[in-house]
Amino acid sequence: MDIQIISLPKIEDRRGNLSVIEGDTIPFDIKRVYYVYDIPSGAERGGHAHKNLQQFLVALSGSFDVILNNGKQKSTVTLNKPNVGLLIKPGIWRELANFSSGAVCLVVASDVYIEEDYIRNLKEFKRFIKIIDK
Ligand code: TYD
Repeated sequence: MDIQIISLPKIEDRRGNLSVIEGDTIPFDIKRVYYVYDIPSGAERGGHAHKNLQQFLVALSGSFDVILNNGKQKSTVTLNKPNVGLLIKPGIWRELANFSSGAVCLVVASDVYIEEDYIRNLKEFKRFIKIIDK
């Protein structure tokens, strides 16, 4: 599975901790940052894959599960630390679930928002996987 857990630097201080994502921390140039918050109990997000986009997810607050499927394997990663992120390469179906109360999901992305980059149904995803596996 083309994913990677990446630890971020944590600069500890009596005044609070600080983590940073810069330069070589992640293997792409950052084009966009967005975050999902105020997530109601029981809600799920994601439910799509990307053709080209790379994303790096961090639980800035609270926790949630990222359920991943590359067409061959499934895997679940729990994010619950502001200094640990999950890199997701293209061609991986992801669902975000089990958000704790107050959870904030930061997403750092390799490109701007392009609706055509989304694969939003599983049938299309399976077709896409077959094409890129050839
Ligand atoms: P969506 O990608 O479905 O959210 P998630 O994957 O987190 O469940 O996006 C929800 C809506 O927000 C959709 O109408 C598109 C819009 N949107 C933007 O306008 N810009 C963005 O950068 C993102 C990620 C979404």
